[in-house]
Amino acid sequence: MAMTLESIDIYEPDGYVDAPPHEVFAYLRREHPVFWQNMPDGTGYWAILKHADCVEVAREPTLFSAQVGGVVLEDQVPEQLEQTKNMLLMMDPPRHTTLRRETAPCFKAREMARLEDRVRAICRTIMAKGAELGEVEFVHDLAALLPSQVFGELMGIPESDRAQINRWAEITTGGQDPEVNPDGYGNGQSDASVAMATYGIEFAHRRRAEGDSDDVGARLLATEVEGQPMSDLEFGYFFVQLVTAGNDTTRTMLSSGLLTLLQHPDQLAELRRDRSLIVGAVEEILRFANPLHYFRRTATADAVVRGQPIAAGDKLAMIYTSANRDDAVFSDAQRFDIHRNPNPQLSFGIAEHFCLGVHLARLEGRIFFEELLSAFPVIELTGEPRRQRSNLNNALKDLPVRLRA
Ligand code: HEM
Repeated sequence: MAMTLESIDIYEPDGYVDAPPHEVFAYLRREHPVFWQNMPDGTGYWAILKHADCVEVAREPTLFSAQVGGVVLEDQVPEQLEQTKNMLLMMDPPRHTTLRRETAPCFKAREMARLEDRVRAICRTIMAKGAELGEVEFVHDLAALLPSQVFGELMGIPESDRAQINRWAEITTGGQDPEVNPDGYGNGQSDASVAMATYGIEFAHRRRAEGDSDDVGARLLATEVEGQPMSDLEFGYFFVQLVTAGNDTTRTMLSSGLLTLLQHPDQLAELRRDRSLIVGAVEEILRFANPLHYFRRTATADAVVRGQPIAAGDKLAMIYTSANRDDAVFSDAQRFDIHRNPNPQLSFGIAEHFCLGVHLARLEGRIFFEELLSAFPVIELTGEPRRQRSNLNNALKDLPVRLRA
């Protein structure tokens, strides 16, 4: 069917339920790479579809602000915006630069590599549960356990609290899907954020009283920003930021990764024969099935992107799902290829706000798939996978599989 501009709606979350609209994105990259999309609330945004343009927007954090309007397309009410401004992801320079500089050392590759044995032990427990159950809903029964357990280990959170934190995170980020967030967009969401921040503040208070320990939680608590230790409130926001940024994204990388491998049995067989290919496979999973479709910016002054004038105050969305399949950067971009190298995928963003948890996410991805393939010589789909209704989360909500040890 011929595509007409009038028929295109890349905002409507229903359009993402069966699959991301890759054909529409390919058409727009060719014909309208900076595309104006209206939204039901009467506003609209510039969809940035080319890889180079997403990079350009990300590299101008003052001109294209994460703070002015936040990073999701729906405008927040002023109180919500006021809260989110305290999160790293929604801060602009110079405040962002300072907080990022002070906290980044806690998340360096070398620091995260120290967690390898713990992450492997957690993965083995998860696979043991999979072996016991045999038939699982992979997203929640197994994949979800890794980020919440690893975050718990990282920060020193009691095991008994981890499921609740996981649930808050899911509500906060799954807002457009009525099954994930029955209270509707914006409602359960902000309650869950507040509950999480409150937990973070209490956690900070308790951990400070308990005294020294060597986990990342303790080191973050000791971090000084502009000569002052983070207050419990600042820590609370940072805590929410880490949970919401790291939970669903990692769960999605693991579950969409498994589905993609099952859909490409030759490459799965190759991975089983040569585990050293897993590192590249994880990178390609991230490109091909990027966990987040986009992040937003707001123009703080008149600007131009690829010849298109952008007015001060306009919203822009860097569409990672489109950029990751841009033929100008990736050969045979619609093809899943675990050997792809180089692979400059944008699934972790780029520049100022480049994912702080990138080394942890890659470590978790590699070890999880190593352990999954070792534990189960046969993995089969037993039903239809179901996807989240969301233009933000490129996520599965059900992945029924049988695991044979
Ligand atoms: C596969 C898993 C993950 C994906 C796909 C992902 C993706 C992203 C993206 C796209 C951004 C920001 C881009 C922007 O606004 O320009 C980001 C930022 C961030 N991520 Fe991740 N992330 C993942 C895992 C994690 C984990 C495990 C953590 C926590 C340990 C984490 C913590 C953060 C933080 C704190 C930021 C904000 C950084 C800043 O604004 O300077 N992420 N992530």
